[in-house]
Amino acid sequence: MLIILLGPPGAGKGTQAEKIVEKFSLVYIATGDILRKAVKEGSTLGRKAREYMDQGQLVPDNLVVEIVRDRLMEPDCVNGALLDGFPRTVDQAVFLEQVLPDIETQVDRVLLIEVDENELIERLTGRRVCGDCGASFHVKYKPPRVRNVCDQCGGDLYQRDDDSLATVTERLEVYKNQTEPLVEFYEGRGVLEKIDGNQDIDDVSDQINSALEKL
Ligand code: AP5
Ligand code: MG
Ligand code: ZN
Repeated sequence: MLIILLGPPGAGKGTQAEKIVEKFSLVYIATGDILRKAVKEGSTLGRKAREYMDQGQLVPDNLVVEIVRDRLMEPDCVNGALLDGFPRTVDQAVFLEQVLPDIETQVDRVLLIEVDENELIERLTGRRVCGDCGASFHVKYKPPRVRNVCDQCGGDLYQRDDDSLATVTERLEVYKNQTEPLVEFYEGRGVLEKIDGNQDIDDVSDQINSALEKL
C-alpha cells in the first residue's frame, strides 16, 4: 500500500502522518525530514540542498528522486509506506510511477489536505519542531506540556529556519506554481481524496481515517 500526503506547507502533513503511520503500520518517508537531517549532518547532499531550502525553493528533482527510490526498495516497505512531501513536481510523480512496478506496488490514495492561506501562515510561523525525533508542535494550537520540550522524547524544540515569514511566503508561492499541478495529475489517476484541513487536528484525523479505512 502506498499513500501520498499532498498539501501546502503548514497544511498538517507531518502532524497527520504521525497518526497515520501508527494506525495503519506504514513506513514514513518524508523528504523534508530526510533533507533536514542531511543538512544537519553536513553531507554532500545536505550542502547542496541547504541553499534551496533556506530560500524556500524546491531542491532539484535529481537530488530527491534517488533518495525516495532507494528508501522504497528497502525491505521494511513491503507492507506499505506513507510519502509526505514527495512527489512535489509532476516530474517527480512521473518518476515515481516508473519505479513502482519494480517494487510491485501502486499509489492507492493521494490525500490532499486543504487549508486557507492565512491559517497556513499562522501555523508555520508558530510551529516548533523536535530536534531529536522531528515531532511538530505549535505555540498556540498544539503546545508541548513543558515549554520548548518534546512530549514524545524530551528533546529540545526549535523553530525551522524556513519558518520565517519571508520564506513561508516564498514556499506558498512555490507550492502554487510547482506542486499544485499534481492535484489535477492525481485526479486524472482517480486516486485523489480531498481532506478539509481547516478543522481541529483530531477532526482532520477522523476524516483521513475514514478515507483510508475504505481501501
Ligand atoms: P517539508 O519539510 O516537506 O515542508 P512543507 O511541505 O513546506 O511542509 P511543512 O512541513 O512545512 O508542513 P506540514 O504540512 O508538514 O505541517 P505540520 O504538520 O508541521 O519541505 C521543506 C523543504 O525541503 C522544501 O521547502 C524543499 O526545499 C525541500 N523538499 C522537501 N521535499 C522535497 C521534494 N520532494 N522535492 C524538492 N524539494 C523538497 O503543521 C504545521 C503547524 O501547524 C504545526 O505547528 C502543527 O502543530 C500545526 N497544525 C497542524 N495541523 C493543525 C490543525 N488541524 N489545526 C491547528 N494547527 C495545526
Ligand atoms: Mg512537514
Ligand atoms: Zn522528540
